[in-house]
Amino acid sequence: MSLRCWTVFGIAFCASAGLLDGSAARAQDDSLPAMRARLRQMIHASHGAPEGEPAGEAVSDVATATYHSGTMLHCENCHVMHASDSGQGYNGPAKNPGGYPHLLRASNPTELCLSCHDGHADVPDVVGADTNGLAERAGGMFASPGAANPNGHKLGPGGTDLCLRCHTARGTRPGEAEVTCTDCHDAHGNGRARNLQWASDPPSTPPLGLFVNPTATDLARYERSNVAYGTDGTDNLREVTNICIDCHHVFSGSWYTDPDGDGIPNKHPVTETERGATIRVSDGDSRHTTDSGHWVDGSGAGFGVPRARFLVDPATTYSEATAVAADNTVFCLTCHKAHGSENPDGLAWPQQNGSVGPNGCDQCHNKGAS
Ligand code: HEC
Ligand code: HEC
Ligand code: HEC
Ligand code: HEC
Ligand code: HEC
Ligand code: HEC
Ligand code: HEC
Repeated sequence: MSLRCWTVFGIAFCASAGLLDGSAARAQDDSLPAMRARLRQMIHASHGAPEGEPAGEAVSDVATATYHSGTMLHCENCHVMHASDSGQGYNGPAKNPGGYPHLLRASNPTELCLSCHDGHADVPDVVGADTNGLAERAGGMFASPGAANPNGHKLGPGGTDLCLRCHTARGTRPGEAEVTCTDCHDAHGNGRARNLQWASDPPSTPPLGLFVNPTATDLARYERSNVAYGTDGTDNLREVTNICIDCHHVFSGSWYTDPDGDGIPNKHPVTETERGATIRVSDGDSRHTTDSGHWVDGSGAGFGVPRARFLVDPATTYSEATAVAADNTVFCLTCHKAHGSENPDGLAWPQQNGSVGPNGCDQCHNKGAS
């Protein structure tokens, strides 16, 4: 394999030359847009992905009727035409005499979204304690915007370049960087589950396998216990954590999880079908690193907390995606809530004696059993 390397933010960056198109492989253009375009190719086309991926069956069972999408996109939820509540502004002081960019109802997307999505009954509440009293929100929760959040993503106003959130001229700055709602969600809806999108290339987002229990109604549709995850391993239906790698681009795929290729991971392996990784609980049975019988059994070591979330590959319906089996796979949302949680690093279950496990971890690994 012929490698081409260049330097970005002072970090050497290498890729198989064949994966880069002509323009990228020529003299390196290190402007930010050019780097982003190259990273886009790296993220979504290389690092372990099998060549000539087979086309999958067309998927018809994905829930596409999301709020803020299609006929449920209500302009006035987020825009006001003349920066005044009455639409005229001469019957008294206009509310926001100067108005906001794009005619928005608030000065930035995070503030706009949270004007409904924080502390309002009957709207999914994504910050702090849940106004609606759900048992456990599927996406978890953020801390207040601007506040440091050791328990998940830190919310900010947005507007900073995606790459420069984490990268500085001298390297990465983990832990300080921010996200905004419209990094991950399309404000105008895109027919994908939860209107999720690729932050680096929204229009190219493939269908995503997040399924809601068809019998759930109202806000119960956002309960963890009514949401399940599947993929068919092709662009017809990617796993929902396909959006995570647009920013966390060094955590998945064998190129990163097992850089020396000896079969013993250096980072926790995760399913990421675009890079050809499907990590099944049963994969470790023969080496006794995992215990899929224990996972299927569902009691004993590790099960002091509810069964960890898993991804089924393949699964194209809610019922397929809820079937517990030895070949269930591990993905980012096994261990993390997407927004964040009550626990350090957005861990999906509470720590045990100040540690990430054995609860949760031992559901698959069964190491603490005595
Ligand atoms: C005017 C109030 C309002 C504003 C402003 C608002 N939302 Fe919503 N949003 C709602 C309501 C109400 C629902 C849920 C309706 C339901 O499922 O019953 C919802 C649902 C959602 C959902 C779940 C969609 C689904 O069907 O799965 C997402 C994601 C979402 N909003 C994101 C956003 C984002 C991002 C913003 C800012 C760009 C935003 N919302 C601004 C009221 C609002
Ligand atoms: C859930 C909130 C929300 C709703 C509902 C919404 N918008 Fe927007 N809109 C935004 C945000 C946020 C922006 C700012 C641009 C961005 O961040 O993508 C925006 C920007 C725009 C823009 C300018 C930039 C662009 O993307 O084209 C237009 C035009 C627009 N909206 C029209 C509409 C219309 C028409 C409707 C109703 C059919 C609508 N919007 C409903 C949140 C919303
Ligand atoms: C959420 C944080 C985050 C974001 C956002 C992010 N990166 Fe990174 N990036 C990292 C981390 C962490 C590393 C690994 C650094 C290390 O190992 O020292 C990395 C490594 C890299 C590397 C080195 C190549 C490699 O495989 O290790 C390049 C090039 C790079 N990033 C470019 C980008 C570009 C371009 C963007 C915007 C599209 C971007 N990054 C967005 C966190 C981020
Ligand atoms: C880092 C990406 C990311 C950001 C930033 C983000 N979301 Fe989400 N959001 C997700 C994902 C992924 C899900 C699906 C979670 C699941 O079901 O496991 C989700 C789910 C939701 C839901 C459905 C309720 C739930 O608990 O599942 C709503 C509503 C929502 N997001 C609104 C917002 C709002 C409002 C913001 C900004 C305050 C925001 N999101 C920021 C990724 C993100
Ligand atoms: C728009 C870019 C973006 C996307 C998409 C994104 N993240 Fe992040 N994430 C960040 C940034 C920025 C940070 C803070 C810097 C860091 O810690 O690396 C972060 C931090 C985190 C942390 C550490 C939180 C803490 O308090 O220690 C976890 C866990 C995480 N992300 C998981 C996810 C998962 C899971 C997804 C997909 C559902 C996802 N992220 C998608 C940008 C993103
Ligand atoms: C097996 C459980 C597990 C899986 C799967 C997992 N994580 Fe984590 N992650 C953790 C734990 C535990 C931490 C806390 C720090 C540590 O122990 O390394 C963490 C820390 C992080 C952090 C912050 C610290 C850092 O290393 O930068 C980010 C960001 C993150 N995870 C993102 C992801 C993403 C994205 C995925 C999917 C590609 C993922 N994680 C899959 C368990 C997991
Ligand atoms: C849903 C199942 C699942 C959960 C939960 C899980 N893992 Fe894993 N883990 C796996 C799988 C599958 C592998 C790959 C096993 C293999 O191929 O040998 C793995 C690999 C590992 C390895 C590398 C083993 C080796 O080959 O040296 C370690 C260490 C590990 N996990 C620790 C943890 C920790 C700590 C937690 C909790 C934070 C955790 N895992 C949660 C499924 C899981």
